[in-house]
Amino acid sequence: MCGIVGVIGSRDVVPLLVDGLKRLEYRGYDSAGIATLSATGAIERRRAEGKIVRLEDKLRNEPMQSLIGIAHTRWATHGAPNEANAHPHATERVAMVHNGIIENYREIGEELIARGHKFQSQTDTEVALRLIDQYLADGKSPEQAVLAALGRLRGAFALGILFHGEEDLLIGARRGAPLAVGFGNGEMYLGSDALALAPLTDRIAYMEEGDCVILSRTGARFLDADGKPAERVVRATAISGAMIGKGNYRHYMLKEIYEQPAVMGDTINTVIGPKDRLAHLPDLGIDLGSITRITIVACGTSYYSGMVAKYWLERYARIGVEVDVASEFRYREAPVDTQGLAIFISQSGETADTLAAMRYVKAQGGRTLAIVNVPESSMAREADGILLTKAGPEIGVASTKAFTCQLVTLAAFSLAMTQARNALPAEEVRRLMAALVEVPARAAEVLNHDDDLHALAEKIMDARDVLYIGRGPCFPLALEGALKLKEISYIHAEGYAAGELKHGPIALIDEVVPVIVIAPSDSLFEKTISNMQEVMARGGKVIFMSDRKGLAHVDDRTFATVVLPEVEPFVAPILYAIPVQLLAYHVAVLKGTDVDQPRNLAKSVTVE
Ligand code: G6P
Repeated sequence: MCGIVGVIGSRDVVPLLVDGLKRLEYRGYDSAGIATLSATGAIERRRAEGKIVRLEDKLRNEPMQSLIGIAHTRWATHGAPNEANAHPHATERVAMVHNGIIENYREIGEELIARGHKFQSQTDTEVALRLIDQYLADGKSPEQAVLAALGRLRGAFALGILFHGEEDLLIGARRGAPLAVGFGNGEMYLGSDALALAPLTDRIAYMEEGDCVILSRTGARFLDADGKPAERVVRATAISGAMIGKGNYRHYMLKEIYEQPAVMGDTINTVIGPKDRLAHLPDLGIDLGSITRITIVACGTSYYSGMVAKYWLERYARIGVEVDVASEFRYREAPVDTQGLAIFISQSGETADTLAAMRYVKAQGGRTLAIVNVPESSMAREADGILLTKAGPEIGVASTKAFTCQLVTLAAFSLAMTQARNALPAEEVRRLMAALVEVPARAAEVLNHDDDLHALAEKIMDARDVLYIGRGPCFPLALEGALKLKEISYIHAEGYAAGELKHGPIALIDEVVPVIVIAPSDSLFEKTISNMQEVMARGGKVIFMSDRKGLAHVDDRTFATVVLPEVEPFVAPILYAIPVQLLAYHVAVLKGTDVDQPRNLAKSVTVE
């Protein structure tokens, strides 16, 4: 997390830095800051607690101008999110922005304190900064000082560094956190991603693990992890420079919910054969028929899409699947089956734990497939095969359209596996595929119920706790519904497998706890209804989400109902994502929370 931008320009770079920060605000918004060099070469800084608008206010009152600068938007790890801990950190000699974590900060910090350094923040960043400062004081050049410091720092990080009096020098370093170098005309740029640099240039070189880059106005010199000169490919990026707007929508999240029919359609079109209407994946470089077992690894909402895929792959393709959260998988030293396939699902393609889990599998000789939304991301570049979702840039921190695009991709992948394993007759696969192709149209129908979900939100907005239950592939939807509600409305919510309710959570049921039952009419419908009856028998406040056929089972004890189109059960989990998103959205708006940038969260989690 945290976003980094750096520019050595031939014009005033301050507005460019602020614009770059706005594009990176999804990475964190606890504080923001800029460091530049004054006309005399002295380091100048402006920093502000809170979002980038606060930094802009500060810059209006205390303007600055420069041809060189670094900037940062923060998601706090070490130290409270206040101005003293805001980046850039600086001494008289050097200023630094940092994304990631320096693990051996304590040991180096103690050493530096013993040498007379007086720390001004509680950050691990300041340790790295002062280490470089010390090497400079010892007489090393900026480049030597950075390389010497990199040799001592442990952890996963990306750095941007500028130096007193060095108006044509910016140094970047990448170890475990992404950093891109942009090439302009007489200008050079550093950025956490290509999106940050999109209005400035479409010529990008992605730094490799352990790289250090020395930038001047006219070019970049790369050094690899051993400090040896290295060549890095400059690619043309297709990312648009236009700032992604909210259009007429009040929030990005609402806009992104409404984009779902279109982007799911775009995604489906990349995985279906136009003539035979069967699943045709782009060339993955992996023989699907040879796979003996599947492991799915992801975080957050992406993990829940993986959980849904387990139901599909096991039921239709008849292949064993395990699903794990990346932060657990990466450290449990799981044996890797070289005949298996490990799938990594991520909107950003940069989530630190998921990326580390992928590298672990690769190092053990396993085959990897990334399902990602950002084509230039680390996971897209490092996986053996990739399936790109076509959700487009997702700005709202709570994932919506990326989730449903992951689901349609995983649904098509499951059918491709089914075909490759001959697990179902082609006619049956074609029937399931036809249902998948219909999903965007059905999703548009679900959006027509937005007003009903708004009315329902008014009824539950004062709840202290909310339970979501579902069975089979709708169990992960219960988890996702609860996650959406808690992350943007701050109401405590839990998702449960409906059959598990009686093993504990049923004790929570009383007349004030809303219980949202996700129950499309499928083979498990009657079982879920029994669990719903158990809730109602205890006076529970049931909100029943089902189709017209399912609604025939409700009685006057049901607190509220949400009607969805009747669809082939295979695709139901994809459609049921939409009402749970809208419900959480409306509750959050009614409660007045910051829907697009909820407290304490960030969109791209590049620290573990
Ligand atoms: C953060 C975001 C979530 C997202 C998760 C995984 O927690 O707030 O919306 O699901 O990271 O991100 P990824 O980019 O790997 O899908």
